[in-house]
Amino acid sequence: MSKNSRLPGFYKHTLDERADVVAGWADLTPAEHAALLGEEGLPTELADKLIENAVGIYGLPLGIAVNFQVNGQDVLVPMAIEEPSVIAGVSFAAKLVRAGGGFRTGSDEPEMIGQIQVLDLDDLPAARAAVLDHEDELLDIAARSDRVITKLGGGPRGLDARMLDNTPVGPMLIVHLIFDCRDAMGANMVNTACEQLAAPIERITGGRVGLRILSNLADRRLARAECTIPPEALAFGEYSGEQVLDGIVEAWAFAAADPYRAATHNKGIMNGIDAVVIATGNDWRAIEAGAHAYAARSGRYTSLTAWQKDNKGNLSGKLEMPVAVGIVGGSTRVHPTTQAVLKILNVKTARELAEIVVSVGLAQNLAAIRALATEGIQKGHMTLHARQIAIAAGAEGEQVMAVAERMQTEGNINPEHAEAILSELKK
Ligand code: MEV
Repeated sequence: MSKNSRLPGFYKHTLDERADVVAGWADLTPAEHAALLGEEGLPTELADKLIENAVGIYGLPLGIAVNFQVNGQDVLVPMAIEEPSVIAGVSFAAKLVRAGGGFRTGSDEPEMIGQIQVLDLDDLPAARAAVLDHEDELLDIAARSDRVITKLGGGPRGLDARMLDNTPVGPMLIVHLIFDCRDAMGANMVNTACEQLAAPIERITGGRVGLRILSNLADRRLARAECTIPPEALAFGEYSGEQVLDGIVEAWAFAAADPYRAATHNKGIMNGIDAVVIATGNDWRAIEAGAHAYAARSGRYTSLTAWQKDNKGNLSGKLEMPVAVGIVGGSTRVHPTTQAVLKILNVKTARELAEIVVSVGLAQNLAAIRALATEGIQKGHMTLHARQIAIAAGAEGEQVMAVAERMQTEGNINPEHAEAILSELKK
């Protein structure tokens, strides 16, 4: 049965009610439901095994972005983030994108790049040719480093060798191992394979191997999302759809041309991306590194997204970037909350997850630049701020909205006023 991720009024429920809705939506077991609530999250024994010197568990709010439709499938997107407005923003943007048929996505094969640095070479072109001549032999060695991934249809795919003629310590050859990680992020398997290749590469080139490590510029593992929104869906308040559309394109043009703005523009994209990456137990620092290196691939740091008016007058947006995420290995399968999150997302492959991740990034960027190009972002922030003040003053259930709305209308958002309104309401 196809499911609908449009959950009108979801935000008005209590946290427990929302968790119930999601548990029903995703058919969670009682244990998965408890993991979602954080009641049965990461146990300290496991934390102690994941890192060194563990002393406890650090919590983050876990929310659900609604309204997402990706390649015709409705999805609820769990996001772990402490920043207000992000989940409201992506949910709102996903509703706009729905009006134009939802997100259309694609992705590359899950190929990572491992790098092997070769030093002390007199003749870089000859060393490069020697490595490439021995490609089959080297790929065999790399395949033997992880027989499981080869059985699963992944493993080494090819070699490349790049000559860096002029580094601060002189010339060096950089051998790239292309390695298909299937549904794992793959850092461990790529690093192991690179280490296995060190001795054979020294023998073949006569050089000395230095670093053996994967590259986070995973530009063979790109994911892309696109959307099209009719202008009428963008109109609100005093703004016509055309005005909003033009404002979004102008906001993007600013980021496309100016690295100072691009950094903030891309930070907004990463607000959405990191939250899904964290919720799924993936390495968000790796995704951050890949995103910003990709944004600077032309030699000039620029926007990761592109927005334009298409030939039918619709707003058309796209985001393409490296998304090296896994659904097996690492902490993805051991963290109880992550397992519940993956079940809610209902993804069968790492590529499907990567495609949802970029859709959320595109949605977040749309929400941010739409707000910035029109009423500004503080209005939405103040709504959330008012709700938080109301909750801190003791408001519960429907009182939260009532207190927050009155504080906003009266232009007086502070704890004393929240308490005064609340005691009035209680009378
Ligand atoms: C804030 O966390 C993110 C924004 O600054 C993004 C942007 O400016 O596009 C609102």
